[in-house]
Parts: sequence; structure tokens; C-alpha cells
Amino acid sequence: MAVTLIVGAQWGDEGKAKVIDYLSENIDIVVRYQGGANAGHTVVVNGEKYIFHLIPSGILYPNTICVLGGGMVIDPEAFFLELSNLKEKNIDIEGRIRIADNAHILLPYHSLIDRLREESESITKIGTTKRGIGVCYADKVNRTGIRIGDLVEENFYKNRLPRIIQEKNILLKEIYKDKEIKVSQVEDLLRELGQKLKQYLINAPYYLNMEITSGKRVLLEGAQGTMLDVDFGTYPYVTSSNPTIGGALIGSGINYRFITESIGIMKAYATRVGEGPFPTEAFGEDSEKLQKMGNEFGSTTGRPRRCGWFDVEVIKHAARINGLTGLVLTKLDVLDEFDKIKIAVGYELDGKRISYFPSCAVERIKVIYEEMPGWKESITHCKKFSDLPKNTRKYIEAVEKFCGVPVKWVSVGPDRENTIKLK
Ligand code: GDP
Ligand code: IMO
Ligand code: MG
Repeated sequence: MAVTLIVGAQWGDEGKAKVIDYLSENIDIVVRYQGGANAGHTVVVNGEKYIFHLIPSGILYPNTICVLGGGMVIDPEAFFLELSNLKEKNIDIEGRIRIADNAHILLPYHSLIDRLREESESITKIGTTKRGIGVCYADKVNRTGIRIGDLVEENFYKNRLPRIIQEKNILLKEIYKDKEIKVSQVEDLLRELGQKLKQYLINAPYYLNMEITSGKRVLLEGAQGTMLDVDFGTYPYVTSSNPTIGGALIGSGINYRFITESIGIMKAYATRVGEGPFPTEAFGEDSEKLQKMGNEFGSTTGRPRRCGWFDVEVIKHAARINGLTGLVLTKLDVLDEFDKIKIAVGYELDGKRISYFPSCAVERIKVIYEEMPGWKESITHCKKFSDLPKNTRKYIEAVEKFCGVPVKWVSVGPDRENTIKLK
């Protein structure tokens, strides 16, 4: 019985989807456990590009079952759009998608409030994706959320929905000076959605643990990354869920004892989108080069990603929290043209060396760098470790030594086939 967790070790966009697709070949079920359509997960197969926001990245294999876990916030419009995009590309999804009935539904008022908050002068701008994510999770925790399973329950329409909308209207009218929403309109929409979505609904803890017990192999797909975790990231500049291992348990209902591997995905450098501290951020020529070579523009919003150098303390933080058993180093080819490559090997805080990622004093840390020689040749064609130039191999070995976790795969290009298994 084996469940493998795939988790972002940095600020998201580490190439998780590429790795999940690559590893899904021998997997029966892929479960997305948190986040929503803020995620942009890119898979490239034989030059064809697919971007997933809600659907798990294992969908391209014909027999893999894809589960949208209970920890997710699901925008039905984005979900149906994604299904029709897949159908257009002739991906047969019939009978292969399940949705946990306790996942929350994200409605237009969530995105509206997210946008109004982001555009307000008096609220700290996070640089969110404006997909309503934080507002929907706030409703969940505030017990004013709507679960997908509620949509087919009469009691929900009678007892809960009018109060939920009434509260939203107070907020919209009094705080945001915006238009009120009509209960009847929301009810009509939700009833229609309930009819369309009920075919996908499952009790996820029951279904998943039963399938695992019967021998099915499962991958847990994280969105975002450890540094965007609402508890362990650079708060408040984070997303509103737990991309880390705790979120995987809560967002799937899988028994913790079934998780045998925890794989951290990390770029050979670092990026982040939106506001917030980024200790190894590069500026000027280096940053521009990383952005250009790595094509660092968000898959969801198209925003340019901020670029910087590989940060060992960030990965050690992720390894500690997620119990990482292995690492995947992606986008190594993006460093092909650099003469020198910087690695952040440690931090100083108030003049003293620290060996952890601080929760509250990130802006005050001083980063200590080492420099390694580049390899100055293309590596995308390489198929095994020994094909890689000497300096590339040295870089991988340095990353492994500094982080203290084995690097099990490296990725040298966006396509599924540009992947090298090391261990
Ligand atoms: P995710 O959110 O972690 O799944 O990552 P994204 O899909 O948002 O961003 C990763 C981007 O890098 C995508 O455009 C991928 O196609 C691309 N990519 C993934 N691995 C590699 C790689 O090894 N080399 C290059 N050049 N691009 C890669
Ligand atoms: P994937 O799964 C990178 C960032 C946003 C913003 C912060 C909060 O593709 O790695 P939110 O809309 O979640 O409330 O925004 O989190 N963010 C991401 N950055 N990759 C993502 O997902 C992200 N999802 C959210 O840019 O800084
Ligand atoms: Mg992404």
C-alpha cells in the first residue's frame, strides 16, 4: 500500500504538474488536495501543452482516476471549462473524475470580494490571483461556506442558504458599497450545479482508503508550495490553504499511515508571484535572464514571476515540515547560459547565523551565498546522469549535500521525456 505525496518546496510553480504527469504512468488515482483555480499546472507531452487549474495532472493517462479532494475550493465555471478543453483535445474523461462531497464551492461573490479587497487602498495587497480563494476558505472556516454535497440537500436551501447570502449582502453593501445578491438567483444556480455535479460526488475518505487497502497506488497532488502555506509560509503573503503534508491529510481524508513517500519539487533557482518577502530575489541582468530563459510568466494570471537564486534554507524548511524523502530538481536547463550560479547556503539574523526559516523576521535576514561555475551548454537532450556536463552534476550534488535529502529526478526541459531518474 503506497501513497506518494508531491509537494511544492518553494513558492509554487516549481514544475509539480510535470513531475506528477511523469510519475502518474504507474498510478491508479491522483488526488488534488487543496487550493483551487489559483493553481496553474502545466504538462507538455510530445510538444502539446496542457494547463490544469482544478483537474489533477494525471488526467492525460487513459486509466488514471482523478479526484478533486475535500480540501479544495472549486469554481464550477472553471471546472466545466477545463472539462470542455480536455474534450476538445480528445482526452477521454468519461468516468475518470470524482469530487469529494465536502469540497467547498467557489461562487462569483468570492472572486468579486477577492478583487475588491485587492483593489482597496485600506487593505494589505497580497497580489492574489483574484480567483476568490482566500474569501472562499474564510467562509469555510467561518462556517458560512457551501460544500458541493450541500447542493443536492433540500435542508440546505431551506435553512442555510438564505442566511449565508444575507450575511454576504451586509458585507457587500456596507463595506464594499457594491450591489446586493439575490437569494433566488444563487439558489437557481446552485440547484442547476447540483444536478450537473452529483454524478461526480464521492465520500472521499471512504473511497480513497478502500481503494488503497485494495492495492491501488495513489499520488497526492499539491498546489502552490510550502512557502505559500498559510501556517508555514511568508504570512500574510501566502495562499489561504495548507499545501504542506498536513493539508494533504486533511484535504484527502487518507490515513496518514499510507503515505510512504513525500517528494519535494523545487526549481534549480527560485521564483515567486505576487507580493511578499523573497530573500534570494535577483535584480537586473540575472533576474531578467532567469525570467527569459525560464519563461517565467504565471500560468494562471500571466503575471511575470519574480526570479532569484536557489535557497537551501527554504528547501530545508520544506523537508522538515513535509518529511521529504526525495527531491526533484526542475528547470535545470534554464541555467544553461550562466557563467556563475549562486546558491544561498545560509542566513544571518541580527549578525548571528541561523539554521531555520524565520516565521516573522524574514525581511531582516542577510543571505549568505556561494558561487558555482556554470556549464554553458544545452542539457535538454541528456537522458541519464552521466550525459550531463561535469558542472551540472556538481551542481546537483551540491544541492543534495546542502539540503540533506536525495535528489531522485532532475528535469531538463518542459516535455515529459526531458526527465532523468537518478535514484
Ligand atoms: P506547477 O504549478 O508547479 O505545476 O508549475 P507551472 O506549470 O506553473 O510552471 C512550471 C513551468 O515550467 C511550466 O511552463 C512547465 O512547462 C515548465 N517546466 C517544467 N519543468 C521544466 C524544465 O525542466 N525545464 C523547462 N525549461 N521548463 C520546465
Ligand atoms: P501553483 O499550484 C504560484 C500566490 C499568488 C499570491 C498568493 C495568494 O501553480 O504552484 P491566492 O489567489 O492563492 O489567494 O494568492 O499566492 N499563488 C501562487 N503562486 N503558484 C501558484 O499555484 C499560486 N497560487 C497562488 O500569486 O501571491
Ligand atoms: Mg503553477
